[in-house]
Amino acid sequence: MAAYTGAIIYTACRKTFTCDNGLEAELLACREGVELALHRTQLPFVVVELDCAEAVMMTKSPMQNRLKYTALVQDIKGMIAESMREIVSAHISHSHNKVAHGLAAYGRCAPRIAVWFGPGTNEIGWGSAIHRQQQPYQSAYSMATVLLDGSNPAVVRVRQLIDGTESSDGWTRCWEEGLTPWDLGEPTPAVVELVKSGTLPGGGGTTATVLVPGCGGGYDAVALSGAGRFVVGLDVCDAAIQKARQRWSSISPDGNFIAFVNADFFTWEPPKPFHLIFDYTFFCAIDPSLRSAWARRMYDLLRPDGELITLMYLVEGQESGPPFNATVLDYEEVLNPLGFVIVSIEDNGVAVEARKGMEKMARWKKMAN
Ligand SMILES: C[S@@+](CC[C@H](N)C(=O)[O-])C[C@H]1O[C@@H](n2cnc3c(N)ncnc32)[C@H](O)[C@@H]1O
Repeated sequence: MAAYTGAIIYTACRKTFTCDNGLEAELLACREGVELALHRTQLPFVVVELDCAEAVMMTKSPMQNRLKYTALVQDIKGMIAESMREIVSAHISHSHNKVAHGLAAYGRCAPRIAVWFGPGTNEIGWGSAIHRQQQPYQSAYSMATVLLDGSNPAVVRVRQLIDGTESSDGWTRCWEEGLTPWDLGEPTPAVVELVKSGTLPGGGGTTATVLVPGCGGGYDAVALSGAGRFVVGLDVCDAAIQKARQRWSSISPDGNFIAFVNADFFTWEPPKPFHLIFDYTFFCAIDPSLRSAWARRMYDLLRPDGELITLMYLVEGQESGPPFNATVLDYEEVLNPLGFVIVSIEDNGVAVEARKGMEKMARWKKMAN
C-alpha cells in the first residue's frame, strides 16, 4: 500500500490455501487490498492496481458474468459501496507491479502471512530488492497523480468537489479529504532554478516582498523565501494554510522570511503592494470567467515597477476544470490591456516528468499606461 507520493505505507503477503487459478488469486488479493486500505488508512481516495485486466473488469462491471467468483466480487463491490470513500480499481502493466511480484516470490518460498509497516527490511531478504524495484512502480503512480487533466481519477474527483462553485468550499473539501493531486510534495524545480539564477528581486542589502497566490502546501513560497525576500503564501483554504504553517514553522519560526495568510486572492488587501508575484497552477485553477479579475488583482497587488512570473500549466482539450484549458494567449488577453508585457518566455525544461512539454515560464513587467 503506497501513498500518492509513492512512499510505501504498508506491505503484506498471504499464502492462500484454496485458490484455483490466477484470476481467483487476483480477486482475493484485491479483496484483501481494499480491506487493508479501509481498515489501516483514512485515505479518502484509493486506487487498487491489478495487472489482470479481467479482474479489474469484474470489479467494475455491474454484471455478474463469472458465477464461480460472484461471491468474491460481490464482497469487493460491497466493501467499496459501504465505505463512502472513492475506491477505483485500475489495470497496470506487469512491469509496473514489481513490488507485488517481489512479495509473491517471497510468499512462495514458504507458506506464510507477513506484514510490515513500510516497505519491509533487508533482514527478510528482499528489502533491498524491493527498494531497487520500487522506482518504476513509484514513477508510474506519481505520473498519474501529478498529471492534472481529466485522465487522472483524482482530478475527476476534485472537479466533482469544486463543481463550478466560486466559494472556497470545494477547495476546502479537497484539502480536508487530502485530495491534492496538484501537490508535488516539494517545490517545483523551476522555482529552485529561479532562486539559483540570482535574477529575482531582493538581496544585496534590500528586501523584496513576494506574493504566492493559491500557495497550497507552501513549498514554492518557502523555496522563494530567505534573506532578501519576504514571501506571503496566500490561500483561500484554511486547512491548506494550517498545514503549511505547521509544516514550515521550524524553518522560519519567527516569521522572518515567510507568512502564510488565509484569504481570498480576489478580495484580500495587503498593507503594501509587492515587488514580485509568482503564480503556478493558480490561473488554470480558477474559473475562466474570473481571469480578467485575476489580471486586475495582479495589477493592483504589484508595485508600479513590480514583476509577475507565471509558470503556465498549459492544458488543452478539457471539458471542465480545474485545471481549465489555458494557452499563452489566454494570459496575454487579460494581462496586455493592463500594460503587462512579456520580458521573457521559455519552455520549462525542468518540469516534473508528467508535466514535461506542458509548461512555460513567462516573466512580465508592468509598463506605465
Ligand atoms: C491547483 S492548487 C495549486 C496549489 C499550489 N500552487 C501548487 O502548485 O501546489 C490551487 C490552490 O488555489 C487555492 N485557491 C483557489 N481559489 C483561491 C482564491 N480565490 N484565493 C486564494 N487561493 C485560492 C486552492 O485552495 C488551492 O490550494
